[in-house]
Amino acid sequence: ANPPVTVAVSGGAGQIAYQLLFRIAAGDMLGPDQPVRLRILEIPDALPALEGVVMELQDAAFPLLASVDTTADAPVAFEGADHALLVGARPRGKGMERSDLLAANGAIFQAQGRAIQARASDRIRITVTGNPANTNALIAAAAAPDIPRERFSALTRLDHNRAVAQLAAKTRAAVGDIRRMIVWGNHSTTQVPDLTHALVAGEPATELVERGWVRDEFVPTVANRGAAVIAARGASSAASAASATVDHVRSWALGTPEGDWTSMSVVSRGDYGVPEGLVSSFPVTAVGGDWSVVEGLELDADVAAQLRASVAELEEERDQVRALGLLG
Ligand code: NAI
Repeated sequence: ANPPVTVAVSGGAGQIAYQLLFRIAAGDMLGPDQPVRLRILEIPDALPALEGVVMELQDAAFPLLASVDTTADAPVAFEGADHALLVGARPRGKGMERSDLLAANGAIFQAQGRAIQARASDRIRITVTGNPANTNALIAAAAAPDIPRERFSALTRLDHNRAVAQLAAKTRAAVGDIRRMIVWGNHSTTQVPDLTHALVAGEPATELVERGWVRDEFVPTVANRGAAVIAARGASSAASAASATVDHVRSWALGTPEGDWTSMSVVSRGDYGVPEGLVSSFPVTAVGGDWSVVEGLELDADVAAQLRASVAELEEERDQVRALGLLG
């Protein structure tokens, strides 16, 4: 058997982790031949609840689960970690703006970035799910300047999956028949779901759906889906967010399928007019644990305008956290 891979997960007593940890332990993320060691990070107050989750992980008797450790100490959690899944964050409370979230979460991601740099394996790959995910990833990366920029990512796969599902439903296709979907920009309501390059069973999506539907239904439904789930469920997306986190890491570690790509927020190298250094969502392919942005795509005029607005929001968030001293 392969030697175990160490996966550190923060926010282990939260609702996303309650799905995520079990999916990882079942082998859904790194494959059926890859044992995992779980290192779970929580705040001290949540450690008792986390013990219950650990009991359930034990009770599931996962053959691939080599060990489970819990801690409230970030350097301990990230010791030798190959993957860091940064899920834990201060959730947005009633009436709380994104800017309040930036401040509340900045310190968490700065400390975790430092701990990852000090302790993680040299194979470390970091995925930020906790919101505001893109800017939290930017903060973690700034706190870990010795780690290559391409090892930091933020989750926009849930948005990507939502876009795939909406297009599949509209065209009465199977989700597996949808390829080359893109979500650009920030994981927020300014995100840019883009089906102009997508294929439905090999046919261009733009020949199957009307532009009006894209503008009035597709884009707003995908961008506001998080709020719709909260309104219906009384709690934010958790199982789908966990599933998307599993998909994100699996695509990154095990590769994207031939002829397709995925959407992932990564540190821009200036691609598609997104200023270098911002953590923004792009279409990417991955092979052997390394991703590359899909090059040379022509941007539809509406998509380009929406991307400029999303990038402006990312710049504003960056400027706010810089003013708070969180970018070093
Ligand atoms: P939750 O509130 O149920 O769980 C969060 C957990 O993180 C709590 O148990 C809390 O104690 C823990 N935590 C807080 N600070 C921590 C720290 N410094 N170190 C370790 N653990 C810490 O929230 P849920 O529903 O699990 O969501 C987690 C995050 O994921 C939220 O920020 C949410 O907004 C975000 N999210 C992101 C999505 C995306 O697509 N990128 C989709 C859905 C949620």
